[in-house]
Amino acid sequence: MKVVAFVVAWFAVLGYIQAVTLEVNKGNSTCIKAKLSALFSISYKASSTTRTVQVPLPNSTTVDKGSSSCGTNSSSPWLVAVFGPGHALGLSFSTNGSQYSVANLTLKYNLSDTSTFPEANSSDVVTVVSSSVGIWATVNTTYRCLTTTNFPLGGATVTFSDMRLEAYMPGNDLSPTESVCMADKASTAAPPTTARTTTTAAPSPTPPGTPERGNYSVKNNGTICLLAQMGLQLNVSYFSQLQNKTVRDVVNLNPNLTTSSGSCEASSATLALSQEGTTTLNFNFTLNSTSNKYHLSGITLFTNWSDMTGPFSASNTSLNYMRSTLGRSYMCNAEQTLDVVPAFSLNTFRLQVQPFGVTTNQFATAEECQLDQDQMLIPIIVGAALAGLVLIVLIAYLIGRKRSHAGYQTI
Ligand SMILES: *[C@@H]1O[C@H](CO)[C@@H](O)[C@H](O)[C@H]1NC(C)=O
Ligand SMILES: *[C@@H]1O[C@H](CO)[C@@H](O)[C@H](O)[C@H]1NC(C)=O
Ligand SMILES: *[C@@H]1O[C@H](CO)[C@@H](O)[C@H](O)[C@H]1NC(C)=O
Ligand SMILES: *[C@@H]1O[C@H](CO)[C@@H](O)[C@H](O)[C@H]1NC(C)=O
Ligand SMILES: *[C@@H]1O[C@H](CO)[C@@H](O)[C@H](O)[C@H]1NC(C)=O
Ligand SMILES: *[C@@H]1O[C@H](CO)[C@@H](O)[C@H](O)[C@H]1NC(C)=O
Ligand SMILES: *[C@@H]1O[C@H](CO)[C@@H](O)[C@H](O)[C@H]1NC(C)=O
Ligand SMILES: *[C@@H]1O[C@H](CO)[C@@H](O)[C@H](O)[C@H]1NC(C)=O
Ligand SMILES: *[C@@H]1O[C@H](CO)[C@@H](O)[C@H](O)[C@H]1NC(C)=O
Ligand SMILES: *[C@@H]1O[C@H](CO)[C@@H](O)[C@H](O)[C@H]1NC(C)=O
Ligand SMILES: *[C@@H]1O[C@H](CO)[C@@H](O)[C@H](O)[C@H]1NC(C)=O
Ligand SMILES: *[C@@H]1O[C@H](CO)[C@@H](O)[C@H](O)[C@H]1NC(C)=O
Repeated sequence: MKVVAFVVAWFAVLGYIQAVTLEVNKGNSTCIKAKLSALFSISYKASSTTRTVQVPLPNSTTVDKGSSSCGTNSSSPWLVAVFGPGHALGLSFSTNGSQYSVANLTLKYNLSDTSTFPEANSSDVVTVVSSSVGIWATVNTTYRCLTTTNFPLGGATVTFSDMRLEAYMPGNDLSPTESVCMADKASTAAPPTTARTTTTAAPSPTPPGTPERGNYSVKNNGTICLLAQMGLQLNVSYFSQLQNKTVRDVVNLNPNLTTSSGSCEASSATLALSQEGTTTLNFNFTLNSTSNKYHLSGITLFTNWSDMTGPFSASNTSLNYMRSTLGRSYMCNAEQTLDVVPAFSLNTFRLQVQPFGVTTNQFATAEECQLDQDQMLIPIIVGAALAGLVLIVLIAYLIGRKRSHAGYQTI
């Protein structure tokens, strides 16, 4: 029961950036309201190849009042959100009195927008529609789906996360009662722990540079209980739709687009990082209260990159990395590779973490990893060698001086 409550909290606090609020009004009353983050992954033809771009729904998105409507006897309520030069997202609703649902999901994109679709062969406005969306809720409740969910639409994919919406609204604000989507229920009940196994691996076309270092923290009851600073790089094998083969991709986590959350308990602490709703990376630290030692015991990754055939998840809960002592932080400036499953490893750079015993919002004295200690040995060895050299020169000089003194005396 405790674990369930803990996992609920862990999932509920995952937050994504760029949430937009959209509403359709008739007179003074609101009939549709949606708060969501959306990412569109769109494939298009450019000269002789197919390119895929990822376009987030920008926060400058507005509701097109002309096309949107609260519905009449003969037409259904429709929310049309417009962004950029002629792009649009449409949600049409229907109800049977006790439940309402998204009847169809429409995406319209303008291939003449060369900044979004460079070198597109066509300049058409493309409209793709899906009418089996599976978003439904009880009337007079808010549909809630925090989990990242993909909806395939022709050659595009719409990814929603952090979604709350309601149509046929009884008031002007979202109803406090929520209808929770299956994915949220499933992820709270049993987070997936299976890893897709992959065999062949191809080198990444453009290996990214060293990732930027992010500052992350977790609060418990208002005070910081976990601190982390690190650059992170994901190394994932997956089946690429575009290349029709298994590829190994190395991707940096961008701290600017990453939000942190998590939880702290007496003997375990979780740091959950989420990048733009497409990647979630969780670290689970365990404290042994007998020995007062802690370590990184679990890593879980969920990703859904546009080129993947489906969501990728990988988890290993019997790891033994970043061993340190309660009351100390753990530091590793050197690059470290943490193997999680064969299809996924994590590279860390300039890392310092403290999952337990954080006081005054600061890192305690650090215990350094072996790699750093080895690297520190190099200057010591070089220094010792230099000192030895100086000593040899000095001795040689003294001997030389003694000899020449002896020479004078014989004259
Ligand atoms: C809508 O709001 C305006 C101004 O607040 C008010 O004058 C008007 O009576 C309202 N209309 C309805 C139908 O509530
Ligand atoms: C959009 O987001 C940016 C950065 O988060 C912010 O500076 C800007 O004010 C936002 N614009 C609107 C219209 O909310
Ligand atoms: C809508 O239906 C109601 C009852 O079914 C009817 O009274 C009303 O006139 C209809 N409105 C329009 C615009 O057709
Ligand atoms: C499509 O984009 C082009 C270039 O940005 C713009 O001139 C055109 O008006 C757009 N089309 C529509 C239907 O908005
Ligand atoms: C989607 O819904 C809108 C609004 O109800 C409607 O105009 C459009 O024809 C629908 N498209 C499909 C393919 O059902
Ligand atoms: C409304 O639709 C839902 C799902 O489609 C169904 O389970 C429910 O029984 C329907 N209710 C009525 C009154 O038709
Ligand atoms: C929804 O709420 C409205 C206003 O509070 C009420 O008139 C209506 O009967 C409710 N519908 C359902 C299905 O509970
Ligand atoms: C959280 O903090 C409040 C006020 O600081 C305190 O009253 C409460 O007992 C704390 N709760 C827990 C679970 O520590
Ligand atoms: C993908 O590769 C397999 C075997 O290499 C081949 O049979 C299949 O036709 C390819 N599919 C596409 C869409 O190219
Ligand atoms: C993150 O933001 C900082 C400051 O706003 C900027 O200097 C840096 O280039 C950004 N990094 C990335 C990877 O976008
Ligand atoms: C973290 O690890 C502890 C101890 O191994 C375990 O009890 C807990 O369920 C784990 N938490 C998560 C979120 O995996
Ligand atoms: C905690 O550490 C003690 C002493 O090193 C060891 O005997 C014990 O097995 C450890 N407990 C766990 C749960 O690992």
